[in-house]
Amino acid sequence: MIRLDKYLADSGFGTRNEVRSLVKSGSVFVNNETIKDFGMKIDPDKDEVIVKGKSVEYNQYEYYMLHKPAGIITASRDKNAKTVVDLIETRKRRDLFPIGRLDKDTEGLLIITNDGQLSHRLLSPNSHVQKTYVAFVSGGLPSDVEFHFKNGIDIGDERLTLPAGLREIESIDALVEEFGDRYIIEKCESLGDSQGNSIINNCRIYEVVLTEGRYHEIKRMFEALGGNVEYLKRYSMGPITLDSQLAPGEYRKLDKEEMKNLLTSK
Ligand code: URA
Repeated sequence: MIRLDKYLADSGFGTRNEVRSLVKSGSVFVNNETIKDFGMKIDPDKDEVIVKGKSVEYNQYEYYMLHKPAGIITASRDKNAKTVVDLIETRKRRDLFPIGRLDKDTEGLLIITNDGQLSHRLLSPNSHVQKTYVAFVSGGLPSDVEFHFKNGIDIGDERLTLPAGLREIESIDALVEEFGDRYIIEKCESLGDSQGNSIINNCRIYEVVLTEGRYHEIKRMFEALGGNVEYLKRYSMGPITLDSQLAPGEYRKLDKEEMKNLLTSK
């Protein structure tokens, strides 16, 4: 059971104060009766709530995948800057947050939800959920760079990084083909390294698979080996893969299959 004002606020009808005024104005019906008591208890499975003639669908949880563009911060709310949650314009719930963090200049998959348990499970250090990234890296790297990723790298923390997968991708065309990402060429063409060289000509491309998430982890791993990450994009997190139909900045709800995989993954 849930209070009517919370039910309406959770369903996107405004703040608690706004929905209370809405109820007091007589625009809200519960089981065909006008209700003016905003504290009334509602059973979302049984009661029918109608606002201004339209039946309300209660969303206890919402789950979205966002193709995060560069330049947007991974936060729920910020006084001065647009956040990844602000990009979910059709959201109903006001309590959405991103699961995990991507740097401001990192692009790619972010899951946005209000399901705290799921977030905890995906981010818990013991879950070792796999995250797949592609990194464009300039500078000299040792020839046994894969060995270092596999065996752990000293990035200045107390412990070495956990074993990570590293695989070189031979060209940007191979990357587009493999990941189905038709947006990445244009993006990379627009980026130059610190010397102004196109990162496409000047970088090696790597797929990186992590099972932990430390601050700036991939950038620090390459830096520790003498490289510099010029561009970073995430393609998957656990069972969820970035939908290649989504342009940077676009989002969609997770579908039934994705939800099943997500909620049943360990
Ligand atoms: N590693 C980084 O360095 N940055 C990210 O955004 C994600 C992983």
